[in-house]
Amino acid sequence: MHYFQFHRRELHAEGLPISRLAKAVGTPVYLYSHQTLVRHFNAFDRAFSALPHLTCYSVKANSNLALLRIFSRLGGGFDIVSGGELFRVLRAGADPRRIVFSGVGKTEAEIEAALRAGILLLNVESIPELELLSRVARRLKLRARISFRLNPDINPRSHPYLTTGTPENKFGIDIKEALSVYRRAARLPYVEPAGIDCHIGSQITSIRPFVAVLKKLKNLVSRLQRMGICISYLDLGGGLGITYRDESPPHPDEYARAVGKELRGFSGSQSPGGITLILEPGRVIVGNAGILVARVLYSKKVGRKEFVITDAGMNDLIRPALYDSYHEIIPVRPRGGPRKKVDVVGPICESGDFLARDRKLPPLKAGDLIAIMGAGAYGFSMSSNYNSRPRAAEVLVRGNRFTVIRRREIPADLVRGEVIPRGLDP
Ligand code: LLP
Repeated sequence: MHYFQFHRRELHAEGLPISRLAKAVGTPVYLYSHQTLVRHFNAFDRAFSALPHLTCYSVKANSNLALLRIFSRLGGGFDIVSGGELFRVLRAGADPRRIVFSGVGKTEAEIEAALRAGILLLNVESIPELELLSRVARRLKLRARISFRLNPDINPRSHPYLTTGTPENKFGIDIKEALSVYRRAARLPYVEPAGIDCHIGSQITSIRPFVAVLKKLKNLVSRLQRMGICISYLDLGGGLGITYRDESPPHPDEYARAVGKELRGFSGSQSPGGITLILEPGRVIVGNAGILVARVLYSKKVGRKEFVITDAGMNDLIRPALYDSYHEIIPVRPRGGPRKKVDVVGPICESGDFLARDRKLPPLKAGDLIAIMGAGAYGFSMSSNYNSRPRAAEVLVRGNRFTVIRRREIPADLVRGEVIPRGLDP
């Protein structure tokens, strides 16, 4: 459910005609619907209201400060994976006690920044990381609360690039080694193993793998308890899928019910506050709350194929090129006439630069606007300057008002930080 709808034959973002926005801000442009963001966050968070929990929005899905502020005001925490994301969430006003830090390659500087900020948990993904963390914590004389991210060997059967919890993946620590790593951590003076963590993948459209993970984690929590290690946080990661085309992922309510059922009567932890569930949703909150609007530059026929060339390319939205993923494309003011199969492509010098292939679309002419739907997650956040293209503007729409929440880049942004060495006179 989102608030991009047709009124009087034109696609609107909430109460605003998209052509008016495009005229004011230019294209390509990412548009986010405030009402949709709030609705999705609340739907997810409230689904778990019967359980002590913390919804840590996964910043990598879309890291614009305005969105982070919205989620923080709604009571959300954050799942971060870098010092850069830590900087962003603190800048957005996040409560450090609601931040968890995942990632297989945290640097010493990143660990130090996280400890100094006083975040809730570092999700440790290897023994060498644990050792480095222990050294940094001792040096700073700060106690580090940690979870271990475990690799549970469960395949959620989504895209191979989006699977993270099988032995072929680089993520986490083999679940078979869990007891020994916790034992080791418990002996370190500045380390407090307080949580257990798993993230098995993304765009998951069934409840089953989540329940399978939870069963494994519950079992471990009880065994750790018997070893005298008290687990207060159980982090199930993110990964709940959305509808891009015809997928029918479970509603957060269904997910929460299944988790609640599994945790009913579970007294695995004797920590005073019981167990707090942590969830790290990204896509399910922002995915369908954002669209990418582009303008048709040209259309042409090459051999038997028809191409529609737009001013948005793979540098703006890389998902189709990278995962062959499907994004619905809707003309903002659809023309009458027969639908035709076309490739919608960008201006980049790569054959992989497409937004859609062999897609049946109504007639499109130069100057027409198109909306690429479901672009709120992993859209702008994965965009780049490839081909020296300034990155798109981002706009937040609220009712019939809008704010540019990231201005369109200008050519000077492209060379920021670059230096021509002395002696290379023109
Ligand atoms: N937690 C951790 C540790 C993660 O690695 C991820 C995503 C999430 C949470 C959030 O997952 P979500 O709820 O959004 O599925 N670029 C890909 C998706 C990569 C996901 C990486 N990790 C795409 O465009 O589909």
